Amino acid sequence: MPQIDRLFPTQIYQAKLAGKKATRLNKDLRTACLSIARDDRAGQNWCKENAYAGYTSYASLNDLTTRAPQFKDLELALQPHMEAFASALHFDLAGRNLKLDSLWINILKPGGVHTGHIHPHSAISGTYYVTVPKGTSALKLEDPRLGLMMAAPAKKPTAPRDSQPFVYIEPKPGALILFESWLRHEVPPNQATEDRISISFNYA
Ligand SMILES: [Fe+2]
Repeated sequence: MPQIDRLFPTQIYQAKLAGKKATRLNKDLRTACLSIARDDRAGQNWCKENAYAGYTSYASLNDLTTRAPQFKDLELALQPHMEAFASALHFDLAGRNLKLDSLWINILKPGGVHTGHIHPHSAISGTYYVTVPKGTSALKLEDPRLGLMMAAPAKKPTAPRDSQPFVYIEPKPGALILFESWLRHEVPPNQATEDRISISFNYA
């Protein structure tokens, strides 16, 4: 009997920050994101110069968890999920924990995109979804072997999800998605009529 093994899995961790406390935090985070976006001149200028349709604090602020308590609360809420994912990935951390390296706000206007990228210098990256208007972009994940497939035929549209070259995850408000930082991903155009608000982060 021949045998087919499925090796080298790409793990994607999804959870929802649920409950009264999490709902309150989501609301507070939305207020904080909008307020920071309004005040952060350097960030606004960066977005203008880099044709980012909306606002990101990625290039301008690296202190959100000390700037506003909501972001510290988010960091605390993320911690058990990071530990669970690191354990599922069988990371040998020699008794240490992964540590938050950076955390930033993304406010994507209708029509805005975030083209394919990876997150260098970190181990696990992810996003917490604050506001997800109806019809907005999914998170598009790419098969990490795509660049190596010199002559591999295309996959049938009927191929199962784990054999597709691209997988789309439609986030809900309060959702948390984690993946290893080398996994290329993108945010296709926001086709909703409202802003899509999320908070992304890197753990190293
Ligand atoms: Fe990203």
